[in-house]
Amino acid sequence: MNELRKSERRKIIIDTDPGQDDAAAIMMAFGSPDELDILGLTVVAGNVPLAMTERNARLLAELCGRPDIAIYAGADAPLKRPLVTAEHVHGKTGLDGPDWPEPQMQLAPGHAVDFIVETLKREAPGTVTLCTLGPLTNIALAFQKAPEIVPLIREIVMMGGGFFEGGNITPTAEFNVFVDPEAADIVFRAGAPIVMMPLDVTHKVLTHKARVEKLRALGTKPAQAMVAMLQFFERFDAEKYGSDGAPLHDPTVIAYLLRPDLFKGRRCNVEVEVTSPLTVGMTVVDWWQVTDRKHNALVMRDIDDDGFFALLTERIGRLQ
Ligand code: RIB
Ligand code: CA
Repeated sequence: MNELRKSERRKIIIDTDPGQDDAAAIMMAFGSPDELDILGLTVVAGNVPLAMTERNARLLAELCGRPDIAIYAGADAPLKRPLVTAEHVHGKTGLDGPDWPEPQMQLAPGHAVDFIVETLKREAPGTVTLCTLGPLTNIALAFQKAPEIVPLIREIVMMGGGFFEGGNITPTAEFNVFVDPEAADIVFRAGAPIVMMPLDVTHKVLTHKARVEKLRALGTKPAQAMVAMLQFFERFDAEKYGSDGAPLHDPTVIAYLLRPDLFKGRRCNVEVEVTSPLTVGMTVVDWWQVTDRKHNALVMRDIDDDGFFALLTERIGRLQ
């Protein structure tokens, strides 16, 4: 890679709770070395407890041939609530599907929150993007520990929330925001530039059988593992929604970095319900601009789903 191109690469931190759809996002990112400079992965409890999500992150890095990448364990519970997990979707390990070996690589020493803070302080202001694929606990803790890092962030591109599409863990709340609504509230109020991938857009990227077969046709070990993960992961949502395949939420975050033209949305105000027992974790999106609340997020609603899957397949196809 020439020096000019290296300097153009986008520096990112991926905060994740793997999760089969997190796996697709992480593999897509590792398959995009010309565009993305992955500074590290930070892991959070979410789909499954932290002991499993950090193990899964190490397994995925090794699957992608990147045992060198720094992986930091972070929060094992939300800021103020007991952890809610999603084994019913992701299986007991969180990466059910393939037969996984034991990971060989170690975690990087230190806490994920400290890595986020130190990295943002070290890198040039406005050059680091936080890509969040799980509950926002690590990000909120970093903002509480060092609020001075907020203006240093280039962008937060997050999978989370929903508006016209409603919720997936309650009628009104999407899982990542529901698990830690207080953390999401801190992040949406902090003032960093946010790009939001809610269920309204992720429910438009379904793992159709034909799309999974294109991944299988790649014939590589990473692609076969992805297919086995998807075949496990999609069973729950395909039955729930009666659809051909399941929504592949998290790789929309990485796809945005690579091909923002695949997406359509608008700047809106987003606030998080943290009190009501009925609607806690709901993201209240003022899509029709009926209030004068500050626009704090670019909220995506539409996507070129064929273009998305072509990109996902091409990037995973680069992993050997
Ligand atoms: O609601 C979907 C989100 O919750 C995805 O990020 C999935 O991996 C889970 O974390
Ligand atoms: Ca996730």
